[in-house]
Amino acid sequence: MRISMIGTGYVGLVSGTCFSEFGVDVTCVDKDARKIDRLNNGEIPIFEPGLDALVASNVAAGRLSFTTDLSEAVAASDAVFIAVGTPSRRGDGHADLSYVYAAAREIARAMTGYTVVVTKSTVPVGTGREVARIIREERPDADFDVVSNPEFLREGSAIQDFMRPDRVVIGTSSPRAQEVMRQLYRVLYLIETPILFTELETSELIKYAANTFLATKITFINEIADLCEKVGANVHDVARGIGLDNRIGRKFLHAGPGYGGSCFPKDTLALVKTAQEEGAPLRIVETVVDINAKRKKAMATRVLDACDGSLEGKTVAVLGLTFKPNTDDMRDSPSLDIVPALVEAGATVRAFDPEGMDEARGLLPDITYCDDAYDAMTGADVVVLLTEWNEFRALNLERAKALLKAPVMVDLRNVYTPADMVAAGFRYTSIGRPTPDPSEG
Ligand SMILES: NC(=O)c1ccc[n+]([C@@H]2O[C@H](COP(=O)([O-])OP(=O)(O)OC[C@H]3O[C@@H](n4cnc5c(N)ncnc54)[C@H](O)[C@@H]3O)[C@@H](O)[C@H]2O)c1
Repeated sequence: MRISMIGTGYVGLVSGTCFSEFGVDVTCVDKDARKIDRLNNGEIPIFEPGLDALVASNVAAGRLSFTTDLSEAVAASDAVFIAVGTPSRRGDGHADLSYVYAAAREIARAMTGYTVVVTKSTVPVGTGREVARIIREERPDADFDVVSNPEFLREGSAIQDFMRPDRVVIGTSSPRAQEVMRQLYRVLYLIETPILFTELETSELIKYAANTFLATKITFINEIADLCEKVGANVHDVARGIGLDNRIGRKFLHAGPGYGGSCFPKDTLALVKTAQEEGAPLRIVETVVDINAKRKKAMATRVLDACDGSLEGKTVAVLGLTFKPNTDDMRDSPSLDIVPALVEAGATVRAFDPEGMDEARGLLPDITYCDDAYDAMTGADVVVLLTEWNEFRALNLERAKALLKAPVMVDLRNVYTPADMVAAGFRYTSIGRPTPDPSEG
């Protein structure tokens, strides 16, 4: 089997590399020549744990290559995956499908023989049919099928997620295309991964329904955290208490500053738009979108409160900028709302992130980038833990206290235990958990 992956970003590069690990011949295509040059020089343009070794071994085995030449790659392929970006369209929140449709046209011109065209990008219901229409318009003679095969990998654990997924979803009614997809995923079939064959539209909707459900779960626990703060309950224990119920499940019940990242914000918005246009509005998801946007903005107020109501002339140490640990992805990170609000309130921000600072510099230009967590805390009036990177989980609190002007921490990820922090002499705020009063011993 020979495939090409159009778009060599977080999804395309990981999926392409993992397919090559399955024994498929893969050509990853991108129109960003710098990205392809770096890959051809053995560099990995994104941070994803384990990816460098997997790319290197499959390149060495001759199963994985990188090019900007879409035509040559597509002409030689049994299946062509579209893994280009589908960001929010400016102004209306719809998914911007221009990259997908442009790729479809280019693929149509280059196809030879029977070809399965697979949308791996997250695309609204109806996109697969439109891709088929475009290909037919461009090449009335073409022999092809369009399949939806949404990707569920998470940045930070992308390889494991691709290699051992909870399920694979394949949307097509063509037996011929089903057979090609079955061959490509043969390795997963052998380890008894559930493979769900369904219609194109259903498959497209499954991806959005999954992401909006998870975003709703996060938003639910965030609101429960707010209630916990009012009534003196502990959201960590509430989450455990409900999560141990198998009908609910323990995952995605971590209260925090609001969801961010390259998928949830844009996918929730896009599904809301689709549902409104179809006359079946998803009012729960509309509310989730609204609550989450307000929540991210409100987080700066917690820092303000921890500093007695004013940040004017104060220095804030920010630990973590990416939307979650183990990625360099800054897209829609809560830090992009919180940090500017701190600066707006008069604070000087000293930040450190293990992998996200190169990307952050362009997005958050008005802050100081530091060498490590301790450098960031030097001379600061308060430290804000924004992303739960492992290296922030075991800070030397005595050293931190000696570097900070005042021992104040706002922990937006509930990494530390309130009682321990009070015992260590910190004024400590977290999300949805009471902090013991130090005067009560
Ligand atoms: N990032 C994730 O965790 C994740 C997870 C699941 C699904 N998805 C979905 O996968 C899709 C891709 O996301 P991503 O994060 O990999 O995006 P990305 O921005 O990292 O990568 C997209 C790549 O496509 C390239 N590209 C665009 N048009 C092209 C064309 N015509 N020919 C060749 N290359 C082209 C771009 O240069 C870029 O390198 C999106 O629809 C996203 O919603 C992402």
